[in-house]
Amino acid sequence: MKITRVNGSLPGPKSKALLERWHQFEADVVGYQAPIVWESAHGCVVNDVDGNQFIDWTSGVLVTNVGHCHPHLVKAVQEASGQLLNNYECANVQRILAAEKLVKVLPKHLNRCFFLSTGSETTEAAMRLMRRKTGCFEILTFEGGFHGRTFGAASMGGMAGPKRGYGPGVPGIIRAAFPNPYRDTLGFCQDGPSFRRYFDYLDTVIQSNSVGSLAGVLVEPYQGAAGFIFPPEGWLTRLVEWAHARGMLITLDEVQASYGRTGKMWAQEHEQLDVDIMTIGKAIGCGVPVSAVAARDSVFACLKKGELSSTLGGNPVASAAVIAILEIYERERLVENSARIGRFMMERLQSMASKCPYLGCVRGMGLVMGLEFVADKKTKKPAPELIRPVIDGCANRGLIVGSVGVYGNVIRVAPPLVITQEQADESLQIMESVLKDLSL
Ligand SMILES: Cc1ncc(COP(=O)(O)O)c(C=O)c1O
Repeated sequence: MKITRVNGSLPGPKSKALLERWHQFEADVVGYQAPIVWESAHGCVVNDVDGNQFIDWTSGVLVTNVGHCHPHLVKAVQEASGQLLNNYECANVQRILAAEKLVKVLPKHLNRCFFLSTGSETTEAAMRLMRRKTGCFEILTFEGGFHGRTFGAASMGGMAGPKRGYGPGVPGIIRAAFPNPYRDTLGFCQDGPSFRRYFDYLDTVIQSNSVGSLAGVLVEPYQGAAGFIFPPEGWLTRLVEWAHARGMLITLDEVQASYGRTGKMWAQEHEQLDVDIMTIGKAIGCGVPVSAVAARDSVFACLKKGELSSTLGGNPVASAAVIAILEIYERERLVENSARIGRFMMERLQSMASKCPYLGCVRGMGLVMGLEFVADKKTKKPAPELIRPVIDGCANRGLIVGSVGVYGNVIRVAPPLVITQEQADESLQIMESVLKDLSL
């Protein structure tokens, strides 16, 4: 039975009125989204205030991995909020159980965690940990990287957007290129598994930029905001070796890549990476604000009591969400579904790309894929002007998508991990018809 239902053009009358009202009060500083007002969502299906029904390819922004409003999560949050809403640093039962449950599913070498509320806080905390542990201050990060919008996190990021107009960032950041297989102008992706050309280049970057105070590396397993750019297989493994050989710590920013998004519970499992710190956000709370830093015991040991604390980190309601979500992962085969439906969707999308002159590249792992739009497949000139017609075209047919990318020319494919074969199929048909219209 057909899931999607859109009556008339968007926004519908109620959405239109609410959208106009919204920005009389809240600053209009968010990115472009499908022109609807969400009213409710369950699993992969979203309803707007006008009675339209959509399939969701966004999961918020890679957040609601267990599906929107999963009943087990909703119940856990309801119950916890009736018992205890906040107690700052005093121990509470939910926090203790959440930490135990999380550490038990982490890669073995990451045997401690600490709870915070947002992804940006975790990458800030990772910067502090790497500096504090080594007594050095230089952090190597990557062009196109995104680690949040607070000042330290944005300073470490390699996207100009969050930094333009704000003056100089935090000192001590060294930035290098990230290997991009689709736009490999410098040949960095071609000589795996040693990646000699890339690591010769990286040595030169360090030789010419470091003042001799190397603390650590902060890297995403794939670059999300830059346009879902996946480094060539083996590159992250070499990066970890490279960092450790220089006495640097390495943090893997899994704020969006974890919890089965890539078809493994943790993205680092694809190459069994021996990282020192991992940052976790988004799907750890599936909509409830919670995040965590995971690290080796020896890394956390450098901190004195109170150094990493925060007002809301580890609050009982957020902790109850962490527990409930991990219980859902134990019962439902979400990680397997991510890998299985991901393969099915990837195959279909690649076949669409072969027929569409503007869909230059489809890439991804599990249920995180990027569709990169170009004006011409030979020159690969980015085509950000096609993104709005794709977002609107999809919404008008019942599919919610969002965009990312250094050039603003990539559509995100990141549905909740509970997506069924039927939902995937219907949503793919919508994308196919939008691409056909684009090619006319
Ligand atoms: C890899 C990565 N790190 C950090 C962040 C920041 O997370 P938050 O927006 O929760 O602060 C994001 C958000 O998109 C992200 O994708």
